[in-house]
Amino acid sequence: MAEFKSKIKTIEWVDNYSKMVDQTKFPEHYEYVNITKGQEMFDAIKTMIVRGAPAIGIAGAHGVVLYAQELAAQNLSREDFIKNLLEKADYMVTARPTAVNLYWAVEKQKEIIKNSKSDIDGIISELKVNGKKLELEDIEINKKIGDYGAMVVPKGATILTHCNAGALATVGYGTALGVVRSAYANDPTIQVFADETRPRQQGARITTLELVMDGIPVTLITDGMCSYFMKKGMIDMVVVGADRIAANGDAANKIGTYTVAIAAKYHNIPFYVAAPLSTIDTNIKSGDEIVIEERSHEEVTMINGKTICAQGVNVINPGFDVTPHELITGIITEKGILKPDYKMSIAEVFKN
Ligand code: MRU
Repeated sequence: MAEFKSKIKTIEWVDNYSKMVDQTKFPEHYEYVNITKGQEMFDAIKTMIVRGAPAIGIAGAHGVVLYAQELAAQNLSREDFIKNLLEKADYMVTARPTAVNLYWAVEKQKEIIKNSKSDIDGIISELKVNGKKLELEDIEINKKIGDYGAMVVPKGATILTHCNAGALATVGYGTALGVVRSAYANDPTIQVFADETRPRQQGARITTLELVMDGIPVTLITDGMCSYFMKKGMIDMVVVGADRIAANGDAANKIGTYTVAIAAKYHNIPFYVAAPLSTIDTNIKSGDEIVIEERSHEEVTMINGKTICAQGVNVINPGFDVTPHELITGIITEKGILKPDYKMSIAEVFKN
């Protein structure tokens, strides 16, 4: 199997800070920003300088190291250092509520803190090592997701995706776009249709940018166009990412994903969710329990700093929706493609 080499690295730990691509500047600028303080990391996650479930997980893990470095400068006792750091870690998780990967990665750092026998400097070193490990593992996991997913991509397929579940939503390679990269490496006749993804336009601003950077053919469409192209027989499959998947397979992803899934079902088009096992939250039985982030109304009322509606109009802006498991053909993970009945296949994959 040919391997795809991507140029994109979204986030990485360097010496004593976190370096990341600033995703608020797309598509005009592709710039890096160095995050050196815990609160700066919280704000970077909240304002979506870094976004995408796996990427904010790694950002959270880095954020815990940044807080640890700051607390170490305060001459606290080891006990107070640990107490304060665990509180800061819990605070970091509140930056964005829907993606379970943030909670998951911060919990991994909390385990290091709780189990360490080292002094304060030693704890910081262990947190750095663990942060780097999670970072490198993310790329490996995505490549596995990509390779499993590529097996179900028909030759010459047009793949529709929503939002950005690409290299820029992870450390690198991507989940949904990881499937695209692995498939493209072996069949350069495949192509992507990218939904623009209102209101933050991750499809237009981010998915098109990263696919153009990596030389993969992509066509931009607006969110309302997907059924039109499905009816015309121009879409062969849908692959999206996820922010949290419940134990029954219900999957939260960027708002609008549910609409695409319904359209795919109606037109008999396979609808896949590509996500690492860290996105599956076995503590919740169904999607009804997923907390949906409500974001600022300006994301809906304004585009590029210009108001696009009547002043004072009522607005609601949920950042995510939940696609019911019955609409999902398969969940592509690093351990293979999970199929319905998801209650059983998910329980089985976590047993091993
Ligand atoms: O609000 P965002 O841009 O963080 O939302 C991102 C998505 O919904 C992605 O599809 C999801 O996080 C999966 S990323 C591999």
